[in-house]
Amino acid sequence: MAFTIAIDGPAAAGKGTISQAVAAHFDFAHLDTGLLYRAVGKRMLDGMGPLEAAQTLTASDLEAEGLRTPDVAQAASYVAAIPEVRAALVDFQRAFARRDGGAVLDGRDIGTVICPEAEAKLFVTASAEVRARRRYDELVKAGVTTDYETVLNQTHERDHRDSTRQDAPLRPADDAVILDTSKLDIEAAISAAVAAVNSMR
Ligand code: DC
Repeated sequence: MAFTIAIDGPAAAGKGTISQAVAAHFDFAHLDTGLLYRAVGKRMLDGMGPLEAAQTLTASDLEAEGLRTPDVAQAASYVAAIPEVRAALVDFQRAFARRDGGAVLDGRDIGTVICPEAEAKLFVTASAEVRARRRYDELVKAGVTTDYETVLNQTHERDHRDSTRQDAPLRPADDAVILDTSKLDIEAAISAAVAAVNSMR
């Protein structure tokens, strides 16, 4: 039986970790849809046109090396603003969402555009300050030299770009449960997400 859990929200709100844990809890398949845009961005950096890259994308492209680098993130954000690229990725996501056995999809527009009929929808968010602090800590851990103010400014810029873009802007679906993780540690956030999904089952 198909059961779709849509998890949307901005970067560094804890969406990825929560989605993985929710998928493991319910024994559902998980698709991080940001990887689709990253894979298209990576192919563009390798010289392919973004539309061709999106139209010929296969599951194995999602396992390519180097999809988590800042350059690829930048390219992903560029291709994600091209409506034809987004359109070319819809069928893959919908087929994944309706597979037998249940699916968790996380991204920006899953509950609003890709799977408006999802059985459960979560919007995972946190204050810009908390998200910038988490991202800053990750960068420092990865050996990147930066300062908190710079990361906070980048967070504000990206929030603005993502929520004002014409096509599929970042916003909660009307029927999404909002999960603000600003004051939650990861275990508490996962428990709250599982409880929210159970309340929608
Ligand atoms: O979540 P992420 O950082 O891996 O996402 C990479 C880029 O893709 C980011 O700019 C947002 C965009 N994206 C999107 O527009 N729609 C999605 N469903 C997922 C990601």
